[in-house]
Amino acid sequence: MLRRRETIIGMLFCFIAVMFVSGLQAEAKSKMQKQSFGKTEDGQQVDLYILTNKNGMEAAITNYGGTVVSLMVPDRNGKRDDVVLGYDTLDGYATGKAYIGATVGRYANRIAHATFTLDGITYKLAKNDGDNHLHGGFNKRVWTARDVSSNAGQALELTYLSKDGEEGFPGNLPVKVVYTLTDKNELKIDYSATTDKDTVLNLTNHAYFNLAGQGNGDILQQQIMIKADRFTPIDAVSIPTGELRSVKGTPFDFTTAMAIGARIDQDDQQLKMGNGYDHNWVLNNEKAGSLFLAAQAYDPHSGRVLEVLTTQPGIQLYTGNFLDGIHGKDGKVYNRRYAFCLETQHFPDSPNHPNFPTAELKPGQHFESTTVYKFSTK
Ligand code: GLA
Repeated sequence: MLRRRETIIGMLFCFIAVMFVSGLQAEAKSKMQKQSFGKTEDGQQVDLYILTNKNGMEAAITNYGGTVVSLMVPDRNGKRDDVVLGYDTLDGYATGKAYIGATVGRYANRIAHATFTLDGITYKLAKNDGDNHLHGGFNKRVWTARDVSSNAGQALELTYLSKDGEEGFPGNLPVKVVYTLTDKNELKIDYSATTDKDTVLNLTNHAYFNLAGQGNGDILQQQIMIKADRFTPIDAVSIPTGELRSVKGTPFDFTTAMAIGARIDQDDQQLKMGNGYDHNWVLNNEKAGSLFLAAQAYDPHSGRVLEVLTTQPGIQLYTGNFLDGIHGKDGKVYNRRYAFCLETQHFPDSPNHPNFPTAELKPGQHFESTTVYKFSTK
């Protein structure tokens, strides 16, 4: 009898100890740092949030544009480097035109002639890329931030209400982006949104990666693999023609890993139109909407590997063709092809291509998508 009671007391003690330790762990995980990142021209306070994990990986994110400002990642010898381009100050992001690190929306990528028709109504969008609409304006808005860290890792929730008519898009659209830094060296991005009118939506992140460290030369030796048998060819102003073309026998075949620079300057009409790679690939994800390993990048020099997983149907590989001597972080200058972007997305100009997966969102529907940037070394 006595022994049984002792056992019960012992078990209770163990239970309390376990609860106490896991409580401490949860608390340690939730200690995200926050510091001021300055004020916008119209006086709004903007902050920088530093997320860390147990491996010493660190992500700095600002609520200005929902932007990833830096990402400190170890190389194969454990040396940490910042693998994304960025600016030292808020002013860089406020005046910059390259969408560096930003959350992009309401419609990431291009919409031809800045117009589309939905339910018989023709909408006119802001023309900000010649005659076309490109990327929307979420990258220049101040988002509301909240620490939502949990046992999954330190996490930052950013919310923004895109009002009916913003940039010409219909519907009030409350949008949420949650960045989670896990102990598996993943930066996980969960997007969600709802609307009160039929609308179109395409959200992505515009991080510019250089796995050798930001500003440390071009990315032409870095390798890319994309799990896609087809891509969407473009016209002279980078609008998809509507064709889904096989990558076989073209410089767009990344089904096995290839150096970015191996074919980038080939005499190929599509490469010429994009000024290099600036195209959407049609991901081979058989279970649409499930998390799928879409792409992998590798820097043979540092050994850093980046895996991109997504629930989205497409991915844009953009090889920094328009980087033209931007003054970035730590005195570094970003020249042409000093970074690559892997933007998970719906296909560009989907609202004008009924044969592309639909980017429509209707009242009562809940838009959800996830993209994971996972780092390792080999
Ligand atoms: C996207 C586009 C590119 C370019 C960059 C921003 O990736 O596809 O053409 O506009 O954004 O400079």
